[in-house]
Amino acid sequence: MPILSSNKRAPLMIGLIIFCSLATVIVILVFLTSSYFMDKKRKIARLEPRSSIWGQNYPKEYDTWRQSANLNYKSRSLSGSRRDLLADRPAMVILWAGYAFSRDYKAPRSHNYAVFDIRESLRVGSPGVEGQRDLQPATCWVCKSPDAARMIDELGPASFYKASFSSMGPEIVNAIGCADCHNPNDLTLTITRPALREALSRRGIDVNKATPKATRTLVCAQCHVEYYFQGEGKYLTFPWDKGLTVEDMENYYDERQITDWTHAISGAPMLKAQHPDYELFLMGPFGQNDLSCADCHMPLITENGVKYSDHQLESPLKNLSTTCQNCHKKEEASLLKRVQSWEERIRELRGRLEPELVKAHLLTRAAAEKGASPPKLTAVRKLIREAQWRWDFAVASHGASFHAPMETLRILSSGLERANMALKALNDIFQELNLAPPDLPDLAAKAQAQSYIGLNMPVLAVQKRKFLAEAVPEWLAAARANGRI
Ligand code: HEC
Ligand code: HEC
Ligand code: HEC
Ligand code: HEC
Repeated sequence: MPILSSNKRAPLMIGLIIFCSLATVIVILVFLTSSYFMDKKRKIARLEPRSSIWGQNYPKEYDTWRQSANLNYKSRSLSGSRRDLLADRPAMVILWAGYAFSRDYKAPRSHNYAVFDIRESLRVGSPGVEGQRDLQPATCWVCKSPDAARMIDELGPASFYKASFSSMGPEIVNAIGCADCHNPNDLTLTITRPALREALSRRGIDVNKATPKATRTLVCAQCHVEYYFQGEGKYLTFPWDKGLTVEDMENYYDERQITDWTHAISGAPMLKAQHPDYELFLMGPFGQNDLSCADCHMPLITENGVKYSDHQLESPLKNLSTTCQNCHKKEEASLLKRVQSWEERIRELRGRLEPELVKAHLLTRAAAEKGASPPKLTAVRKLIREAQWRWDFAVASHGASFHAPMETLRILSSGLERANMALKALNDIFQELNLAPPDLPDLAAKAQAQSYIGLNMPVLAVQKRKFLAEAVPEWLAAARANGRI
């Protein structure tokens, strides 16, 4: 029996040896060829701000990303240009009197232009020109470029934020790109901005443990959110500790007695909402159904059987067949009509709130001049703060009328309610003083409104031209010399 069985085993052993050797050879071959291909990929440094370097390894994503320089698509609400929104709505000059937004506020453009647009904005002033000082801290650069992530990493967030805007000019030069959202080793998504990490951590959420799906939205929430600059160090902070609704954030600010500026006409202690795109998105039908920003803004492209994400990051309305129609079988015209009808309703309510707010600011100044009692004025100013915070929160959020139509209408209508309460209180004040409310000035054009609040726009414009012709070329020359671009 033993002999027989060993005879049977001999060919079995030989087969096994041949199989194992073959398998080893195959494994080695696979390893060699794959490392051959891997070697062809260039090694990318962490936080490499130049997207062209990443583009050598990921040409498809890079090519679509480069398309974001192309602004040829215009929808009804998305102009794809630097449309002057203060000229469109001069009421906003009055609403922001005493604050840099009253100088200049333009429609957003694509990621490609963020660095150009902030340099050109009158809101950052013209530091260095004719003795002009910096109006803004370096914190303003955080959402404009992957160079900001690189510098935050190098200096630490606190030192970066408290530096002056102009001191970082020679460093912040590349357009929002790959390093803002990706880890270079495996191209997984990553969070590069400490403010988001810190805000979530205060809410008990560890961003490193977020699911890949949630991260598809969180990468956008690094920048498309409400924020403020905390304290003297201008530390970038998201006011999310109490929650993400308009009231939660208002409570946060009220508790800390935070005021962004004192209104130059009414004297009200104002808050400026930034762009709570992510927060409002969470409250709308899409956020509630766990969609990601990328589902609509980065549709999949299929080319020769290979799928990749469109990195142009623009309006989903440009090509509804790759965005909305991925999930909805409705016709394009009917989908488009839904987007537009929501926008129209929200524009209508906004159009009713703005003039009420303007009136409230102007009448408050008149009431103060006529000797209204300080406690009554304080109460009116508080209502104005609340009403304008709601107005701003709703209108500053890009795309809110589609992302969260119901929530946006709710916020605007509670703003309208408070503006009307302020006007009613002002009416009572004038009655008590036995005076008729004064006639209000005609501020129907941007230039009238800006000169009414004491802005000398021609001087600001000349300084800006000098700044762009003299300071910025120096920044760029330094960046080139240091190999930043
Ligand atoms: C590093 C900050 C940052 C990140 C991250 C970021 N954005 Fe932006 N985004 C901006 C800025 C700044 C602008 C406005 C640029 C301008 O007007 O110059 C903008 C503009 C846009 C626009 C307007 C484009 C247009 O043509 O009008 C869309 C849409 C957009 N972002 C979507 C997204 C989505 C979706 C994500 C996540 C996948 C995202 N963004 C991530 C900062 C960022
Ligand atoms: C604003 C954030 C953002 C920027 C900037 C960005 N990406 Fe992406 N990228 C994403 C998101 C979101 C996805 C989808 C990931 C998913 O589905 O899990 C993605 C996916 C990818 C993928 C996976 C394959 C695919 O196409 O879906 C690659 C590769 C990639 N990006 C490369 C790049 C390169 C190269 C750049 C720079 C030229 C870049 N990305 C810039 C957010 C970004
Ligand atoms: C269900 C689809 C969908 C999802 C999901 C979505 N968006 Fe949008 N978004 C749109 C549409 C539609 C518009 C309006 C575009 C237009 O009017 O051309 C828009 C507009 C915008 C705009 C305004 C662009 C401008 O120049 O005014 C920004 C910025 C934006 N979205 C960012 C985001 C971010 C950030 C997220 C995730 C937090 C997100 N979107 C999720 C569909 C979507
Ligand atoms: C990734 C899938 C997906 C994409 C892409 C998408 N949607 Fe939706 N959409 C949904 C889901 C899920 C709901 C919620 C359905 C529900 O409440 O049962 C929804 C709801 C809606 C609703 C009804 C909202 C309400 O008040 O209940 C409209 C209108 C709509 N989508 C239009 C669009 C348009 C326009 C686009 C393109 C800009 C789009 N959707 C893109 C998945 C998607």
